[in-house]
Amino acid sequence: MAYSEKVIDHYENPRNVGGFDKNDPTVATGMVGAPACGDVMKLQLKIGPNGIIEDAKFKTYGCGSAIASSSLVTEWVKGKSIDEAVLIKNTHIAEELALPPVKIHCSILAEDAIKAAVADYKKKHSA
Ligand code: FES
Ligand code: FES
Repeated sequence: MAYSEKVIDHYENPRNVGGFDKNDPTVATGMVGAPACGDVMKLQLKIGPNGIIEDAKFKTYGCGSAIASSSLVTEWVKGKSIDEAVLIKNTHIAEELALPPVKIHCSILAEDAIKAAVADYKKKHSA
């Protein structure tokens, strides 16, 4: 299977690899797994008081498409509000990276990771 140039670029030069302290109240953590293949993605967002995502980092144990999808979303979410970030759809990711049908679930993992991180943030901040 041939990877698109964008996948290879993100795979070879992943953006924003790493993590933040999950106990920091401004940090949201989304950890999701793909039942189909066992790959795991951890996405962390650093969120300002106004709900704007100031920074994002990821660690992905998975295939090239999963790594590229998570790298891409760390770039996309920065500067967005959490309400805007949850509107990012796996179809946008798959289209940007030109993922073939068998790799669509890798982009779903990235969409799910954003939603999981935002849910974590809302849980942390619900009084
Ligand atoms: Fe093995 Fe995704 S199926 S890395
Ligand atoms: Fe399973 Fe990519 S996340 S093959």
